[in-house]
Amino acid sequence: MHQDHNPGINPAPLIALTTRYWESQLFLTANRIGLSHLLDKEAKSTAEIAAALGLKPRPTRLLLKACEALGLLKEEPDECFANTSLTAAFMVPGKPAYLGDAVRYADNLYTAWGNLEQALREGKPAIAAESYLGRDEEKTRAFVYGMHNRALGIGNTMVQMLNLKGRQQLLDVGGGPGTYSALLTRQTPGLHAVVLDLPDVVAIAREIIGSMGAAEQVTTLAGDYKQTPFPADNDVVLISGVFHRETEATCRELIRRAADALQHNGLLVISDIFTDAGGAEPAFATLFGLNMMLSAPDGGVHADADVAEWMASAGFDSIQTLLFPPPMPHRMVIGILHSYPSESS
Ligand SMILES: C[S@@+](CC[C@H](N)C(=O)[O-])C[C@H]1O[C@@H](n2cnc3c(N)ncnc32)[C@H](O)[C@@H]1O
Repeated sequence: MHQDHNPGINPAPLIALTTRYWESQLFLTANRIGLSHLLDKEAKSTAEIAAALGLKPRPTRLLLKACEALGLLKEEPDECFANTSLTAAFMVPGKPAYLGDAVRYADNLYTAWGNLEQALREGKPAIAAESYLGRDEEKTRAFVYGMHNRALGIGNTMVQMLNLKGRQQLLDVGGGPGTYSALLTRQTPGLHAVVLDLPDVVAIAREIIGSMGAAEQVTTLAGDYKQTPFPADNDVVLISGVFHRETEATCRELIRRAADALQHNGLLVISDIFTDAGGAEPAFATLFGLNMMLSAPDGGVHADADVAEWMASAGFDSIQTLLFPPPMPHRMVIGILHSYPSESS
């Protein structure tokens, strides 16, 4: 038989890729059934865990051992299982750095990834965006609280990277849970923010903004950012996590309208997951583009260099791209409007 393979090439990367979803599904399931929540106060035996979560003992033992292997649990004396420091910090509801809602949002997209081929053939998302943007109450809450979980971590870095001192009025376009606005106004005395988002999202954002003690500094505007007129006279416009849902034409239009809504010396901040020029790096950003294709009609990923060019052609200057520190995959493209758009066009 003709042997055509090169003995110098190791297939290990391909073998590893074939089963990587095992780990994701294990973690998503552990989160969904509330495993770390159950183990918050004390370690429990397999039988106790199975009984409390309504599982059969034999598969539960397999699950717990795999969780132990992945660093999600540790085994203690008497064959009891406890959270590791990692899951105790991030996977127990009510903890300040809780990530379970964000994990749940990824869980809601698991089936969509299973339908990747169909989405590629049909050219449309595998799940209807309306379902998590208002139509399904539970999915919408999971989406908005998931964004909040993530934004708390990222936002605490964002406030250190952006100096808004002296600025007074922020418009947060597609501001979702309002977390960034709450953190930025907390960091910047005298700054007020308006969060523009869809009505059902804004209703949940009000709860979150209130729980962060920011109800006086942050107000909400229910609307559609493609149609609702932007409030005028801002000195900062933040557009975060929006461009990955939109086409180039819509992004350019949002930049143009942001320029119209900014005062002289106004700052535009566009924060998102972007690729490098060329679109093939970083790998996470390329996969994120597919994730957005599966979950939003115009979803994808843009290159930061393209966004910088769109901003320059809308009259912004002093344009810079700021990278969040690893492992955060986010980047910000920022620019200042030194002239009014009509002067530069
Ligand atoms: C990925 S989230 C980003 C939220 C937040 N800015 C952040 O960075 O965490 C995208 C947001 O855009 C909102 N959105 C999507 N389409 C919209 C539209 N047509 N008008 C207003 N908001 C919209 C969604 O409800 C969601 O809150």
